[in-house]
Amino acid sequence: MTQLLSLSRAARLAGVTRAELQRRIRNGEATTFEGEIEISDLLRLYPRVSLEKTGKLEQVEQIKAAALPRSHEADTALPSPQVLLARLRSLGEALARKAAQADAQAALIAELRERLADSGISNELSAWLDARCQEIDTLPPEDSRARLFAKDTFLRLMSANVKLIPSGHEFFVDGTESILEAAVRAGVRLGYGCASGNCGECKARVVSGEVARISEHDYVLSEREKQMGYMLTCCNTAVTDVVLEAAEARTTADLPQQDIRAQIRKLEPEGDDLLVLHVQTPRTHTLRFMAGQRALLTLENDAARELPIASCPCNGRNLQFLVRRDDDAFGAYLFDRHPTREMIQVQGPVGDFVLREEATEPAVFVAIGDGIAPIKSLIEHAVSIDQIETFHLYWSVDRPGGHYHQRWCRALKETLDNFAFTPLVDARSEDLVAMLRADLAAPEGLRYYLAGPAATIRALAEALAVAGIPAERISAEGLG
Ligand code: FES
Repeated sequence: MTQLLSLSRAARLAGVTRAELQRRIRNGEATTFEGEIEISDLLRLYPRVSLEKTGKLEQVEQIKAAALPRSHEADTALPSPQVLLARLRSLGEALARKAAQADAQAALIAELRERLADSGISNELSAWLDARCQEIDTLPPEDSRARLFAKDTFLRLMSANVKLIPSGHEFFVDGTESILEAAVRAGVRLGYGCASGNCGECKARVVSGEVARISEHDYVLSEREKQMGYMLTCCNTAVTDVVLEAAEARTTADLPQQDIRAQIRKLEPEGDDLLVLHVQTPRTHTLRFMAGQRALLTLENDAARELPIASCPCNGRNLQFLVRRDDDAFGAYLFDRHPTREMIQVQGPVGDFVLREEATEPAVFVAIGDGIAPIKSLIEHAVSIDQIETFHLYWSVDRPGGHYHQRWCRALKETLDNFAFTPLVDARSEDLVAMLRADLAAPEGLRYYLAGPAATIRALAEALAVAGIPAERISAEGLG
């Protein structure tokens, strides 16, 4: 095992989130070298590495599983026998190299001992060397380095780390996932089109490491592309840790406009005049969008409405929307006819209310009423990318007991140490700002995401500005 670990792998070994590890590094508790941390530092921060448990990571995975897709059950499955065999071979080679190095080092120490004895220059040094060698020879199995080594070996068998250049984004490929599926699940915006080997838009170059094809593809790579290491991320998995040169969407302008014929899967009532609309796209045509964006929905009766997407982009196949009855043909059709299984046209994405991923400072999400829809998408994505230090959700509704998505809020609160939720009823802008100032230390240094009715959000953004929050730290849905 190397003496330096990537932050993603180190967090996984310690069973903590990457955001927590980054926080401790920012606090000066450890240093990094080009984005990697020393094993000794990791063991100092987390001396009790457990072989069985992945701690907070398990909690984060539970949340993602709740938000995520049945189609992502692959990430809990075992890798295929071929991939397991290839990983065993690669690990065997790495272990053989280490064993040969250890052997050579043992011979070197033996020679050093002899030379020290012959020279007679320092009995003290010889005694120290003997004692240290004795300690190393009798390391107990529960030694923290040995535990870390065992866990690292196990994790390398079960999953492989992918690092993208030039962005430096990292994610793990688990189970039988393709590289593309793992990237989408991790909230990384790799370019892709069909997700099934036809369009070639997911092409990426393998800079180092080993990948393996897991499905056939119709798209033909030229001989030159193959020689240069190009492959399709939708049809390949990572066998070992790999570095890929790949295009990623960085802004909303990088995402294509899509027009997808999807299906209404479920209509879930939340009280008398609210439905959670579940829409599923075809397997080969998932919606690429950024958390916080909107889509135009058109029903079979041609009634249309543009709505914020209330689900995570890590699952572009299963989309959620909040629909009020309102006074239009769209609401009437859904509420009166409950057209489950009917087709629905999804066009988009639109909007620039998205997560500032480069900003790792604590984030404050303020939702007014149904503004919870884009906020829910942002929070799920933030959990997925595991970059933001802490989150605080303030959600104001117009009547007591009006907070829907109860299970979702409870799951976040119970499983994430860095998440706080303050439910509010009919909060005015001034009251909200006063509360934020009372609750939050150094509110000027935080990042604010506001969503809800335009007039209320405009008033809130103005009140925050008056309270000294810099305008560039405030993102408001629908206000540009
Ligand atoms: S996404 Fe179309 S070939 Fe991979």
